[in-house]
Amino acid sequence: MCQRRSGSGVTEQLEMLRFVNVFKSYQTAFGETPVLHNVSMAVEQGEFCALTGPSGSGKTTVMNLAGLLDRPDAGTIEIGGADTSNLEDGAAARLRNLTIGFVFQSFHLLPRLSILDNVALPLLYRGVSRADSRLQAMVALDRVGLSNRVRHRPDEISGGQRQRVAIARAIVGRPSILLADEPTGNLDSRTADEMLSLFSDLNRELNVTTVIVTHDLGIASRCGRQIAMLDGKIVF
Ligand SMILES: Nc1ncnc2c1ncn2[C@@H]1O[C@H](COP(=O)(O)OP(=O)(O)O)[C@@H](O)[C@H]1O
Ligand SMILES: [Mg+2]
Repeated sequence: MCQRRSGSGVTEQLEMLRFVNVFKSYQTAFGETPVLHNVSMAVEQGEFCALTGPSGSGKTTVMNLAGLLDRPDAGTIEIGGADTSNLEDGAAARLRNLTIGFVFQSFHLLPRLSILDNVALPLLYRGVSRADSRLQAMVALDRVGLSNRVRHRPDEISGGQRQRVAIARAIVGRPSILLADEPTGNLDSRTADEMLSLFSDLNRELNVTTVIVTHDLGIASRCGRQIAMLDGKIVF
């Protein structure tokens, strides 16, 4: 869907995610805090990228904008070649539900729901029946190695398992883009390594464009490309 043929008949990659001259500030009690300064970058369809940089450099802000959880003050964000600037909130939420899977550092699972229902939720929002949502949630949980924990609640499993649940929830809807904000930040190094292998396998199996925020250089070096940020700018 995101490939095009050039005149020569050679298949080129299309950019799946593109920032063009993006600016973002936050309003605080002390006034306006500029955070992103003229950020431009592109991630090609199927790429596996690390987004690195020191704390406070703007990585989470970039991910929230890419995931349509927030809007830029200026500039454009394109997803699958389409500009998202003029989407109303409802349309942005639908596009997010259909194309983006998001994994947060602190998991963001709903504590009262079973693991199965946490994973099924994005499909229910999409209008899929409860039975079908649960069936597809089972498949996603099986893929991340958790099919024997589906009736548990999030506080009854380990941090690494919760992160796997969050990954299952992110992929259950077959997104084109998988965004993970420091998904290994709360995990010990062995679990973090396993998690990165899982992301890498999913990237290939599902051909899902993947961006992982990390400040672990070992993790970043295992990604296909590194995008580095400093003080709200892309430095390489
Ligand atoms: N909601 C917010 N309100 C005010 N300032 C914020 C908010 N979110 C982030 N910031 C500020 O924006 C800068 C970049 O933050 P962030 O994108 O979270 O960076 P990173 O993820 O690289 O640590 C920081 O200086 C942070 O304090
Ligand atoms: Mg952050």
